[in-house]
Order: sequence, then structure tokens, then C-alpha cells
Amino acid sequence: MASSTATAQIGVTGLAVMGSNIARNFARNGYTVALHNRSVAKTDALLAAHGNDGSFVRTETIEEFVGALEKPRRVLIMVKAGEATDAVIEELAGAMEPGDIIIDGGNALYTDTIRREAAMAARGLNFVGAGISGGEEGALNGPAIMPGGPKESYESLGPLLESIAAKVDGVPCCTHIGPDGSGHFVKMVHNGIEYADMQLIGEAYHLLRDALGLGAGEIADVFTGWNSGELESYLVEITAQVLQQTDAKTGQPLVDVIVDAAEQKGTGRWTVKSALDLGVPVTGIAEAVFARALSGSRAQRKAAQGLASGTLAEKPTDTAQFTEDIRRALYASKIVAYAQGFDQIAAGSTEYDWDLHPGDLATIWRGGCIIRARFLDRIKEAYEQNPALPSLILAPYFREAIEEAVDSWRRVVSAAVRLGIPVPAFASSLSYYDALRAERLPAALTQGQRDYFGAHTYERTDAEGKFHTLWSGDRSEVSAE
Ligand code: 6PG
Repeated sequence: MASSTATAQIGVTGLAVMGSNIARNFARNGYTVALHNRSVAKTDALLAAHGNDGSFVRTETIEEFVGALEKPRRVLIMVKAGEATDAVIEELAGAMEPGDIIIDGGNALYTDTIRREAAMAARGLNFVGAGISGGEEGALNGPAIMPGGPKESYESLGPLLESIAAKVDGVPCCTHIGPDGSGHFVKMVHNGIEYADMQLIGEAYHLLRDALGLGAGEIADVFTGWNSGELESYLVEITAQVLQQTDAKTGQPLVDVIVDAAEQKGTGRWTVKSALDLGVPVTGIAEAVFARALSGSRAQRKAAQGLASGTLAEKPTDTAQFTEDIRRALYASKIVAYAQGFDQIAAGSTEYDWDLHPGDLATIWRGGCIIRARFLDRIKEAYEQNPALPSLILAPYFREAIEEAVDSWRRVVSAAVRLGIPVPAFASSLSYYDALRAERLPAALTQGQRDYFGAHTYERTDAEGKFHTLWSGDRSEVSAE
């Protein structure tokens, strides 16, 4: 529907906090932004509070909204992922024209995005599933943006997105990720890594608290110190902030009055489900998802309180040494979590034929997003040196970093086990590392067992082909080809 009053370069529909902040970010960057929300009260509230941020066009109906946009029209949907997204897309698609672009900036499931992209393409519309990370603050001041969808749409959309994205060394934290659902897939794995990173930080905190007996304020200082070294990251920085916070009501550290049951909106769980389908061992992410579930099993946990912890508890005596051990264990486990996430991205890329570039992702995750961290520069370099790296932990820099940390890592995991402090992500990351570097795994025995009970066959180390032992016969071996 053409309109002579079409003045806006971008439209945003869904003006809750994230949508409002992104709209303001566009306006502050000089774009005229058409605003739309199901209830116009939110639009008016935004205009009343921040109308001076730049140039906005207030609209009430979808027709008015679409009519306010320059062609090709670009509309960013910022509604809660799920059915609401389908309803808004349908409404917009009905009012738009071939060549227009619909961008879904929510945390949509990537398979939904694949479906939606195909449906819109059939109607001549460009559908871009864009992962946006950085929370409310990032949305306003510079998020990391992971747009998928047709490459042609990025020509028209890219400059706008890049101008509102965070910048690191002048490089925008936004790039075209790949076709259809790849942007949301990559954002999903980002969130999975976020879960793993948060769980690892939580385990470090637990050890500092219960193995070393440090208080919240002292632990905050430890994290502040860590944040000036190789662990420097947004999540470590905010950990110190949270631990420093005093509860106004009780005078206690806030962390001590927050219920210890972690919630989730589901992107971590999606990451693990997808990893199971792809056959990628994202053990750190999986442990993080399960740890949240366990923490939330309140009745079961209450019933289990007082169960025996055994008699092997042995507290570390050298606080400074053990704190340094925890730091190294955290760093090594974190490398594993990112390595596993990048493996999943590579597997997704192969499965869906997306041609994703891990180095590009490391580049755009350096700023704006929740998992931004100093060591992403090293990840970027590792993939620049070898785009076909079999695993991040094999890059020379990370290989050495783990080599330096490995004794500390083992000391921390063994101390935690003896003390009865749960460290599922530290321990599983270490086991993953040990499994990956093992010359012989017990999987040979698994294959033998499978062949015994189900004639599932096995391969031999010294010959090509598949074999089967006649277990219930004379136990000779036959070729199973
Ligand atoms: C981001 C975050 C964001 C989401 C968190 C919370 O990148 O900005 O990932 O998308 O708010 O992931 O997710 P949970 O509620 O599942 O912890």
C-alpha cells in the first residue's frame, strides 16, 4: 500500500522495554522510526517520555504503520516469541508488498524462523530472523545483532542494524549470519553458552563461599580482580555487582536473601535439545540447564536435606592458592563451553547448509551481547588462523591456556568432590577435555555389548568394514557387510 506520507526508514512493532529501547536507538542514530503497538497507550508512553530522542511517527493501525514506511519497508517485530509472533507476521504480511522486509527480533525458535521465512518467501516478502543480545541496556545503547534471512535483504537492512549495534575497535557487532533460521540458531547457541558461563561462575562462587568460607563482599572483590585479567567479561563484571549489593530490608548481602531456584525462559533448553539432535556433546550447556532444573526442584531438595555427605571433606588451607586454582578452573571450563557451542554452530551449519563462519560470530560477540568477553578476541584470531579448526581447544592459544590451568582444574574438581560441593559444569568440562584427548575410550566395550545383545556390529582397528561375533554360536567373527 503506497503512501505519499511514507517517511520512516524503519518501523518497530511491540513496544515493551526491548522494543522501545531499540526504537529509541534507531531514532538516536538519525532514522525516522514508525511506532506501533497493539495498545496505543504504550506508543504514547514512549513518545511522552522519549519523543525527543529523535524522529518518530506515531501510528495506531497496522495499515497506518505500514503506510508510514519508505520502500522497501522494514519492520522490526519485538514481541514475545511464540504464537504472538505468527499473528503479527500475518497481519503485517497482509499489508506489505513484495520486496518488503519483516524482521523478527525476538528469541524465536530457529525452526519456527525457517518455517516463517519459507512462508514469507512464497509471498515475495523477505523474512529476517534476527537474534538480538544485550538486554535492555544493550537494546538502547548498542546490542549485538545476529540477522539471518535472505542475503539481499541485508543490503537494505544491514546499514541500519550496523549503525545501532555495539562497536568494538570500530567494527559493528552485527553481520549477516546466513540463510533463513541461522540468525536465531546462532542466538540460541549464544544463550546456551550464556547458561554455561553463568553456571560456571555460580560454581566458582559456591566454592569460594563454602570451601573457603568467604563472604559475599569478599567474593565480589575476587570477581572484580578476575575481571581485570583473562576472565574479563560482562558476566564476571555483573557478578561482582550483584555480590556487592546489600539488601535494604535486612542489611544482608542481597544474594543471601534471593531464593536459590534458577528460572529460565527456555533458550538454553532449546540449545541442548538441538545439540542432542545434531549429536554434539554440549556438556557444559546441558549441565547448566539441568542445574537450573535441579535448583528449582524445591520439594525434592527439601526432602533430601540432611543426606550423608561422607567423611572425606578436607578444606583447602591456602586461600590464595585455591582462589587462583578456581580462577584457572573457571577459565579452562569456559574455554570448553565456548568450544562446544562453536561445535554446535558448525554442526548446525552443515545440517542446514548455512555456510556459517565461526570467526564472524566471535567478532560480533566481542561487544553488546551478554557473553561478551575479552577472550573472544582470541577466539576470533584462532578462527582467522584456521577457519577449519577441529575444536577451539586445539588452537595454540587455548591449548596452552588449558595446559597452564589443568592441574588447578583437577585440584578444584577433586576438592569439590571431597567436600560435597556440586560442580557439574566444572567436572563435566574436565571430563569432556579428558575424553577428547583420550587415546582409547571405553566406547569399544559399548560396541562389543551392542553387538552381543543386538548384533549391531562393530568396526575393527585393523581392518575395513563391519563385523559381528557369533556370540550365541561358536563366537567366531563374521563380516557384516
Ligand atoms: C540476551 C539474553 C536474553 C534473555 C536471557 C534470559 O542475549 O540479551 O540472552 O535474550 O533475556 O537469555 O534467558 P533465561 O530467562 O532463559 O535465563
